[in-house]
Amino acid sequence: MYPDRVALDGVLAEVAALPPLVTSYEIENLKSQLAEASRGERFILWGGDCAESFSDCTSPAIAAKLKILLQMSLVLVHGTRKRITRIGRFAGQYAKPRSAATETIHGVELPTFRGDNVNRPEPTLAARTPDPTLLLRGYERSALTLNFVRALVDGGFADLHHPENWDLEFVRHAPLAAEYQRMVDSIGESLRFMETLAGGTIAAMQRVDFYTSHELLVLEYEAALTRQVPRREGWFNLSTHLPWIGVRTGAPTGAHLEFCRGIRNPVGVKVGPDTTVDALLATIRTLSPDNEPGRVVLVTRFGAHRIGREFPKLLRAVRAEGLAVAWVCDPMHGNTETVVPTGGAWAGKSVKTRKFAHVLAEVEQAIEIHRTEGTQLAGVHVELTGENVTECTGGARGLTDDDLSRAYRSHVDPRLNYEQALELAMLIARRV
Ligand code: PEP
Ligand code: CO
Repeated sequence: MYPDRVALDGVLAEVAALPPLVTSYEIENLKSQLAEASRGERFILWGGDCAESFSDCTSPAIAAKLKILLQMSLVLVHGTRKRITRIGRFAGQYAKPRSAATETIHGVELPTFRGDNVNRPEPTLAARTPDPTLLLRGYERSALTLNFVRALVDGGFADLHHPENWDLEFVRHAPLAAEYQRMVDSIGESLRFMETLAGGTIAAMQRVDFYTSHELLVLEYEAALTRQVPRREGWFNLSTHLPWIGVRTGAPTGAHLEFCRGIRNPVGVKVGPDTTVDALLATIRTLSPDNEPGRVVLVTRFGAHRIGREFPKLLRAVRAEGLAVAWVCDPMHGNTETVVPTGGAWAGKSVKTRKFAHVLAEVEQAIEIHRTEGTQLAGVHVELTGENVTECTGGARGLTDDDLSRAYRSHVDPRLNYEQALELAMLIARRV
């Protein structure tokens, strides 16, 4: 893919000499939390942008992402009475998989845009040619993002005693603001009650952790950050806590699975309508020959209209083999559709969107199917933003196709906006 192998090797050598982004200690911690989630003792809230962009590595954008994940996790704690593990699609989610290697723009065939750490979106051959120095820019932005997240958490931003830190400007007008405030108040009361009994502040409530994740695509980059560490066996991919394999690169004989076989991180695997029972079982056994709890996270993304037909047979096969996996529902990627608004600035144009009702319906069906089969939904994986965008339709504010042109900022998949994400958390909390 990179035309200049020498330049790529130079960049990779530089990355390989730089410090890691995460530690094996954090990775092992996350793995044990994922094991708990697979047994129903925890719930995983996993979310963020479809693709991070370099220009969004800013204080407001990062803080807004943390705020919505914190608010959603508060709602989920309140509703599920389970501890929550928060995982961001951030600090490295720059590369995107593509179904086609090229596209034709104004009669010219060009390589497709593959994300900010690979090439540039402008439709010229120069911009679309993969540039290895972008991997360094991606490494740096991942480090800057993580540094800011860790500093905020250490500084008390995520302190459960101060949920007002997470308020976003426009929230007060949200249709669900009052319900959210009631939950915050009730949690505050419980906290004060517990602390009165305990005779002091409960330190565990003063900080919560965020883990990072991204789709594994540029394997050379991942390999440059894959290291051995003192006093632990094996190799760790220290570019992120939880790498995942997408549906386009998930072949059981493919390079991405082969790479993951060699690392000790937990690994996410997307599971969709084209996944066969045999391929799924082979994938799990390859990743986890010792059936290690917390190692394999299966992220289902069938779509609301297909999950009922496609999911149970896979779930039963995995259960019948006694394989330890955490099942997470991604209600986004099977529910993408193209609409043509009849009004608004984009009337007559094709727009990629998702309906809130479909997103919710897929999670509800996942919960129901697990209940019927006696297994546990370990969490959800959602594309969302803390900003007030109009990319998905529906939700309490009833966004329509004609509203999409108002604030559509995603360059890739449509995300739930702040209100829709919070509403989804509330509705999930009621069901789990
Ligand atoms: C994604 O998570 O952004 C993605 C491309 O997912 P999938 O591989 O499930 O299509
Ligand atoms: Co996506």
